Amino acid sequence: MSTLNMDYHWLPFTNNKEFKANPQLIVRAEGIHYYDQQQRKILDACSGLFTTPAGHCRPEITEAVSKQLATLDFTPHFLRANPASFELAERIAELTPENLDRIFFVNSGSEAIETAIKIAYAFFAARGDGGKQRLVSRERAYHGVNFGGVALSGMVKNRDIYGAGLPGVAHMRHTWLAENSNTLGEGEHGIELADDLLRMIQLHGAQSIAACFVEPIAGSTGVLVPPKGYLQRLRQLCDEHDILLVFDEVITGFGRTGANFAADSFDVTPDIITMAKAITNGAQPMGAVAVRTDIYDTVIEAAPGVAPEFFHGYTWSCHPAACAAALATLNIYRDESLFERARALSPLLLDAVANLAELDIINDVRGYGMLAGFDLAPCEQPGRRGAQLQLDLFNAGLHLKTTGDAGIIAPAFVTTPQQIEQMFEILTKVLKRY
Ligand SMILES: Cc1ncc(COP(=O)(O)O)c(C=O)c1O
Repeated sequence: MSTLNMDYHWLPFTNNKEFKANPQLIVRAEGIHYYDQQQRKILDACSGLFTTPAGHCRPEITEAVSKQLATLDFTPHFLRANPASFELAERIAELTPENLDRIFFVNSGSEAIETAIKIAYAFFAARGDGGKQRLVSRERAYHGVNFGGVALSGMVKNRDIYGAGLPGVAHMRHTWLAENSNTLGEGEHGIELADDLLRMIQLHGAQSIAACFVEPIAGSTGVLVPPKGYLQRLRQLCDEHDILLVFDEVITGFGRTGANFAADSFDVTPDIITMAKAITNGAQPMGAVAVRTDIYDTVIEAAPGVAPEFFHGYTWSCHPAACAAALATLNIYRDESLFERARALSPLLLDAVANLAELDIINDVRGYGMLAGFDLAPCEQPGRRGAQLQLDLFNAGLHLKTTGDAGIIAPAFVTTPQQIEQMFEILTKVLKRY
């Protein structure tokens, strides 16, 4: 039991009362294991929070950050810059789909979303189409917690007490369909759900719509893989109606789907990609937005004078230590072919999650690449079983994220096949108690 005074700290996205009564403190990490205060070893089935595909505490990253901090700890990035951020922008542009090669740095996924919204507005304003300000999003979407992201959000608890939000945001239906239950990969049913975008266009007029935001795979609401052809149809509608397609790849970016980005896996190229989680392997806060070259050019060329072309940025954008961590991380991904490893390991993960469907407590299983989800049959209080499960699993030595009554598994790409089996042994044993 911890001797820490827990009174002062207000924990994010946590039931503070329950946590403080029974704290689960992690004090050390190595490889794909966490260690608690009693030095109990806990298998990390979620790459931290989708952040750490190369395993924890990689010395290459620690050294790069430490060297950077000893050489140049901070530069203001308004009117000044540090060389590492240019190098990093080029390295990221090598990974993003062709033409999405202008990179804006931020510190989190939420900031990446706010930035993408503003870039969409700035682009149409620069083109003389300032009337295009509506945004389209989707039910069961998670786009972070800042007010733009809350307006796009499709999760009621993330929005309900926070007011009306941005005006002019319309939500398409989510893509979970009973007909696709227990499908690993893309479901056969539901391509027509993409035509919700067409209905928004018919109702509001394309001349008023700036962008359509989707997670290629909705991650935080339980891994909702798009139906076959769905993303292609969104792309087609956006092309026909001059709407920017934004992929929020905060979870799916950097190998999670077995390719650089989900855009590559699904063979659909958006106009903007937001990214964050795995960019520094979790070692430093960072996010980024990749935009089409001509979007950047339009905004930059339209600006009249000496003032910044784009009135947006954060004190910590392109922080030198974050850039150093990201460069070291990208080296590891490349040198260890980690995205290929993710692709090779995926069938084992998906087979293991498919087996869960045999348990009575499991209502549905889903997955793609190194990302899998399952639904528990809820009890009278929705979400209670999911919260209990993550606690029981932690006590049994497994770190796994739940959201409501859904469980999410996202192992690091360095996980061995034996360790995947071990994760599912623990998970199955605990689930059998329910
Ligand atoms: C798809 C998506 N977008 C945005 C975010 C917000 O990222 P952050 O928590 O870094 O602000 C998340 C976080 O889980 C996410 O999954």
